[in-house]
Amino acid sequence: MALNDFDLVLFGGSGDLAMRKLLPAMYSRDVAGDLPDGSRIICVGRHQWSQEEFLQEVETTSKSHIKAPAEPQWAQFLERVVYVTLDATNVASYGALADVLRKDDSLTRVYYLATPPHLFAQICDNLAEAKLVTPNSRVVLEKPLGRDLASAKRINAEVGKVFAETQIYRIDHYLGKETVQNLLALRFGNILFEPLWRREWISDVQITIAEKIGVGNRMGYYDTSGALRDMLQNHLLQLLCIVAMEPPTSISSDAVRDAKLQVLRSLKRFTPTTLAQNIVRGQYRAGHVEGQAVPSYRDEPDAPEKSSTETFVALKAEIDTWRWAGVPFYLRTGKRMADRLAEIVVRFKPIPHSIFNQPTSSFQPNSLVIRLQPDEGLSLNLMAKTPGDSMRLKQAELELDFREQFKTPRMDAYERLLLDVLRGQLTLFMRGDELEAAWEWVEPILDYWEQDDSNPTPYTAGTWGPAAASALIGRDGLQWREEALPED
Ligand code: BG6
Repeated sequence: MALNDFDLVLFGGSGDLAMRKLLPAMYSRDVAGDLPDGSRIICVGRHQWSQEEFLQEVETTSKSHIKAPAEPQWAQFLERVVYVTLDATNVASYGALADVLRKDDSLTRVYYLATPPHLFAQICDNLAEAKLVTPNSRVVLEKPLGRDLASAKRINAEVGKVFAETQIYRIDHYLGKETVQNLLALRFGNILFEPLWRREWISDVQITIAEKIGVGNRMGYYDTSGALRDMLQNHLLQLLCIVAMEPPTSISSDAVRDAKLQVLRSLKRFTPTTLAQNIVRGQYRAGHVEGQAVPSYRDEPDAPEKSSTETFVALKAEIDTWRWAGVPFYLRTGKRMADRLAEIVVRFKPIPHSIFNQPTSSFQPNSLVIRLQPDEGLSLNLMAKTPGDSMRLKQAELELDFREQFKTPRMDAYERLLLDVLRGQLTLFMRGDELEAAWEWVEPILDYWEQDDSNPTPYTAGTWGPAAASALIGRDGLQWREEALPED
């Protein structure tokens, strides 16, 4: 769908996200021919830069995040970029923005708030007071969208005073990843899986997002957040929703978001007793990642000496519905882990009886692995006969590598999500009630940790997290996928 002419206003326009992700994403779409001639990117920031100084900043900071910038295209792209100095907290300074925005109400106007969330309400109020919100305006909110249920509700209420729900785009960049949409295609574009996609045939589901990186220069934010708020409340729960939701009636935004909301509302609530048994939180200690020595979390620059912020969390969730009752969903995420990967493993039940000269226990249950990162693909693990005279069965893999299969160029998550905002397509964005439902489920965990004065369990950087995470899944007679893989 061709885009309407637009003014995309980036609050936090000289910040890290704009330089590293948003401007490079818009450049790629420009090169792909998606941006109409009358489209502009207005970067807003506090720095007193002239237009030339800002473009110089983009040249030195943002360009290095683009794979192969081509010269004439880059120069053309920069012609779309405008810089406006503005103090987001001071309504008087919005006049400078008003001067730059085009007055034609039929243009799409997008306000992308890549700012700390405490500014969301004030920016929305100021935009309204300065009469800069047209019927064709949209607002994009970047995480963290609150730090608990109350603050998420506040954000929803305050932004909601100025923008209608259909104008609000809450970003979770995991929903922009290619494989996440492929999961929708897999589930609802094929007849094979849906009949099996239920408690009768699935034994358990594992969702892992593991990172090798540490906290980098984000300690100020991360130490007040931790893995539960930073990754689990949003990215992991969104993946869980897509795996577990009932078939939506269409791909329209409300049909998909209603189905996801139903999952969030069906998650079994934790109580202090079930929490103690079903959640592990960890914090990394010094170790080695890719052969390099890395410091302990508490020795990272700016880390509070006795920080009890978790850099790892693993938990067992359950969904109280006819489809999923009794099927454990194990979720896990951490920094400074052994590998960088994001994957969903759906394990099927074992065969009921072996007709071969092999005990049933020697049959690996079938499993479907959906890989989001580092490569994108699917593998379906089956039992197959090994070549030769005897009838011996062994696990074999049916592999679909999306990159190999489809040679078409890929899009970064932000490219897709920005295009969707500009098109007015809300399917891949969280609705306000979804956001609140996710916080509502997470809140007992936050409360419990707050009252509990024990520290997270230490784990060595470069490993798969604390041993307690293996014990968590081990209690159910299961293993995390990497633990169950046969040694080479
Ligand atoms: C962000 C988190 O939302 O996701 C970061 O704030 C994390 O801490 C990042 O590193 C991971 O995203 P990706 O796409 O690199 O897996």
